[in-house]
Amino acid sequence: LYRSAASKELPTFLLIGPSGSGKTSLLTLFSNGTPAPTHISQEPQTALCQLPSSTRSSEDRYRSENDTSSRHQPKFLLLDTPGHGKLRHHALTSLTSPKALRGILFVVDSASVSSATGMTETAEYLHDVLLVLQKRHTQSKSSKGPQQIPVLVAANKQDVFTSLPAGLVKTRLEQEVGRVRETKSKGLLDSGIGMDDDDDAGGDEETNWLGQYGSKEFKLAQMEEHGLDIRVLGGNVKGEGKEKGKVEEWWAWVGENL
Ligand code: GTP
Ligand code: MG
Repeated sequence: LYRSAASKELPTFLLIGPSGSGKTSLLTLFSNGTPAPTHISQEPQTALCQLPSSTRSSEDRYRSENDTSSRHQPKFLLLDTPGHGKLRHHALTSLTSPKALRGILFVVDSASVSSATGMTETAEYLHDVLLVLQKRHTQSKSSKGPQQIPVLVAANKQDVFTSLPAGLVKTRLEQEVGRVRETKSKGLLDSGIGMDDDDDAGGDEETNWLGQYGSKEFKLAQMEEHGLDIRVLGGNVKGEGKEKGKVEEWWAWVGENL
């Protein structure tokens, strides 16, 4: 009985990212087929979604193009979190709570990150999210063998003409996360936390260093050895005028991980 109840738990994907990046808009698009107007989110919310017939699920990976039987369209839950700085505890606790967590969509406003302040805010949040996941991975190593978590950095708002293309969003984010990592590590040293060798309360420098310890440059690929498979893909939830959103690559990523 217990096992059948557990297996019924739907796979969950988590939406996370700074305020205004388009998380709730994406939730409405994925669950209803069209984006609905949104307000700043103050509470997490969940929507039931289904993979569209145009997208392959991982179960259909080896299926022949000539196979005319209907495709497998699995259902899943999408959990939206508020991005406002004061409400991020919702998101950070969601990172470690859902049992059937299949992936994380970190949504970025590709136009806002072309400004220094927008980039810094986004990189700080991404740094903190990745560090929580890295620590979770380190802690689970001893027990069951850690699972790999797929992370999609969704470079949203590609329809806005000031937006950075996905490739640039990736390299600039890597640079800025590297700077955040540097600053936080200096802060720790200055405060004297972690200077004690027998202090294993999670405060020492190495456990708070994101990615490869001591490396000069930060690369998203460094997170692989910490159990994170990170992709950066561009798209837009909304389009100018009659133009529709472009989210096929994100759907494909969800399908691969369902
Ligand atoms: P919080 O709830 O505060 O964390 O923000 P959010 O990430 O949920 O943002 P939301 O979905 O509410 O979108 C913020 C604004 O961006 C809204 O006005 C959306 O219409 C707009 N928006 C979302 N996606 C796109 C996009 O792809 N292109 C354009 N041009 N605007 C978008
Ligand atoms: Mg929202």
